[in-house]
Amino acid sequence: MLTGKRILLIIAGGIAAYKSLDLIRRLMDQGASVRCILTKAGAEFVTPLSVSALSGEKVFMDLFDLTDESDMGHIRLSREADLVVVAPATADIMAKMAGGHANDLASTALMATDKPVLIAPAMNVEMWNHPATQRNAATLASDGITLVGPAAGDLACGEVGQGRMVEVPDLIAAIQERLARATASLPLAGKRALVTSGPTREAIDPVRYLSNHSSGKQGHAIAAALAAAGAQTTLVSGPTSEPDPAGVTIVKIESARDMLAACEAALPADIAICAAAVADWRIAEEAGSKMKKNGGTPPPMAMVENPDILATLSQATDNRPRLVIGFAAETNDLIDNATKKRARKQCDWIVANDVSTGTGTFGGDENTVHLVTDDGVEDWPRLSKTGVAEQLTSRIASWLADRDT
Ligand code: CTP
Repeated sequence: MLTGKRILLIIAGGIAAYKSLDLIRRLMDQGASVRCILTKAGAEFVTPLSVSALSGEKVFMDLFDLTDESDMGHIRLSREADLVVVAPATADIMAKMAGGHANDLASTALMATDKPVLIAPAMNVEMWNHPATQRNAATLASDGITLVGPAAGDLACGEVGQGRMVEVPDLIAAIQERLARATASLPLAGKRALVTSGPTREAIDPVRYLSNHSSGKQGHAIAAALAAAGAQTTLVSGPTSEPDPAGVTIVKIESARDMLAACEAALPADIAICAAAVADWRIAEEAGSKMKKNGGTPPPMAMVENPDILATLSQATDNRPRLVIGFAAETNDLIDNATKKRARKQCDWIVANDVSTGTGTFGGDENTVHLVTDDGVEDWPRLSKTGVAEQLTSRIASWLADRDT
């Protein structure tokens, strides 16, 4: 239910913090990844070591930690999540949130996030019933924050009443519901996307292969952007050192033929984007054992052409994705070659980019692209590969929206 979802869990200082340890495990059992911020008061109840051992990630505690800020930054920390959960949410952190305070890592991340926030209040019954807390709860609800609980029952302080943090299964159900609601309102909700990325490797013998310099950065960024826009995304990737994008189903392959088979298995899809640098040829006959020099002449290497994945998807009579997009990596006559490539392969759009030496496109973080469609050629400014991915995603979303209405 939570496969690929990223939760930022803020653990504030209350006795219910012990339940958050179980919450981490249960979220991870469901396929979510959990990053935690532990407040100073929270660390009085659970240790950073238990939180990090359970989440498998570093625990973030200080706003002014130079290492964290240079590695990650509180803004990124709060944005690289699908949902921010505060559990337990104390009267103090609720007051800070309602008042817009930002004087520690937790409150700053809560102010900086652009993602939905869900809180599970836990405190003494009188603290919960206090007009200030009730006022803050109402403010938070009207700010769009989801409040879950508190539940009624025996409280740790010995009193009885409303103030217990809801039990973990109820909290998980609320998290699932909130994430489902967030996904449903995204522009590509209900759409399926297929992306190819990275190079392919064509085996020569068991220890050697033919390949290319593709880093997979652009394809991976596109898969991440499509998933963030709500598309159910499959990324078919050759070997890269790029981290797996969140919320994406990844199929790792080596050869062009494996890539084609994985793409066909991922159909039907509404959108297909071929960003992989597929090796055009493979060795006609892969040697079954390591080829030896044996003092003779180098072995002849006859090559045969690989299947063209973009052309196959574009020309499919069954299951053709509604929008098929290819890339044209060119070193000269960029637009002319890209336009011809689009016509030859029969894809709908081509993203043309110059990969000649000196452009830094292969392996770099930026890209200058031109979008070739039926309507002509659009020149995009130089953007980060993430920027290209986001712009392409929003173009795709409006193309589909125009046709669906
Ligand atoms: N492509 C593919 N399968 C192949 C070769 C290319 O799916 N066997 C896709 C790439 O993912 C890209 C587009 O086709 O979206 C164009 O790739 P490119 O390398 O620029 O073109 P080629 O087809 O290799 O043509 P050429 O070598 O003549 O430039």
